[in-house]
Amino acid sequence: MNTATTVARPGLDVLVAGVSRIVARGLGARRTAFAAADLLRDHLPGIDVLTPREREGSPDGYVSHILHAEDAFSICGVVWRPGQETAVHDHVSWCTFGIISGIEYEILYRDMGDHLVEIGRAANHPGEVSGFAPPGDIHRVRNTSSELGVSLHVYGADVARLGGSIRRVYDLPVR
Ligand SMILES: [Fe+2]
Repeated sequence: MNTATTVARPGLDVLVAGVSRIVARGLGARRTAFAAADLLRDHLPGIDVLTPREREGSPDGYVSHILHAEDAFSICGVVWRPGQETAVHDHVSWCTFGIISGIEYEILYRDMGDHLVEIGRAANHPGEVSGFAPPGDIHRVRNTSSELGVSLHVYGADVARLGGSIRRVYDLPVR
């Protein structure tokens, strides 16, 4: 028996129901991401949406825990120890994320073919929620705080089936 299915995740049910209603409206990706952001802003769970074990993270890098996945969307809890970061990447679908603890510092890039250029930066603090949709979603994210970073990410795809939310990792030089 899989005990993971019986873990209590306060605040997750209301998100699953809310995102289900939003995706059923058949809006475009960007409008879906913004509607999911409004939902997440009103219903951002506390840190106890993850188990104490999940919140430990890993010394090897940030960890994404899939809390819910179905054909139309997935909800993940991401844990970053201080200083941990992603590769430069883009995404398989629209994404909405909310910060529960720590700071997710984002650097955004544009793909110029043989190199990337930086087009923006954003520091996302606890309680803040953002949504976006491809294209134009190339970024690197780092927990720049000295605290544990925990955030909730909603994706418009079944990331369990796809094996993750990353479409492409970019190792191009930044100029
Ligand atoms: Fe990302």
